[in-house]
Amino acid sequence: MRIDILTLFPDMCNSVLSESIIGRARKSGSVEINCIDIRDYTLDKHRCVDDKPYGGGMGMVMAPQPIYDCFSSLCNEIGKKPHLIYMTPQGKTLTQDRVKELSRLENIAILCGHYEGIDERVIEELQPEEISIGDYVLTGGELPALILADSVSRMLPGVLSDDECFENESHYNSLLEYPQYTHPSSWNGRDVPNVLLSGHHANVEKWRREKSLERTFYRRPDLLEGADLSKQDLDFISSLKTD
Ligand code: ADE
Repeated sequence: MRIDILTLFPDMCNSVLSESIIGRARKSGSVEINCIDIRDYTLDKHRCVDDKPYGGGMGMVMAPQPIYDCFSSLCNEIGKKPHLIYMTPQGKTLTQDRVKELSRLENIAILCGHYEGIDERVIEELQPEEISIGDYVLTGGELPALILADSVSRMLPGVLSDDECFENESHYNSLLEYPQYTHPSSWNGRDVPNVLLSGHHANVEKWRREKSLERTFYRRPDLLEGADLSKQDLDFISSLKTD
């Protein structure tokens, strides 16, 4: 998969995406991520990319021309139109299901807004999918774009190693993850649950499933509706309700 991030702060994006698991995946070629500087496409002789809003008001608005030309150049380079996503608090909130769907695409481009936003005409022209990472406002779209790029990349084959596998973790199966422990077996007067020391694989799996169901039931009961639950799971949840 190829991800292109259109931003005024490519160094900020590149530095985050060069570290840890995503950095390793980029080096090994499991994912290609490019951070493209929108400013390189401005026709303004002072390299300006924004201007005051028509109608007055605070802040600056990103002009349409550099964004449009940046995206057009990307389309020419790839030879087709990548799926374009605009990070904005006005978009639909990102979910793990949408992340999974996006990870099946061959190309995505992520547009980061800044200042007071982007001239509406380029949004109308390019018709991006608008995605928010939550009901709060950040200073720009870069951190949201990094979150999207990270969450999509880690779903791709070869990005996570076997022991970093995502199949048991929170949200993947609409359930929150069970608690994890490592050495030492006793710390600060707190002991690792005995079952995890028992070496009994089936009992460990049962305990983990129940902890996962219990956490989801108490912390995010709304998620249970979308979860794939067996008769045994439902019986266990019923036992929690009567406790
Ligand atoms: N830009 C600023 N805040 C944002 C948010 N919550 N989600 C996506 N993009 C944003």
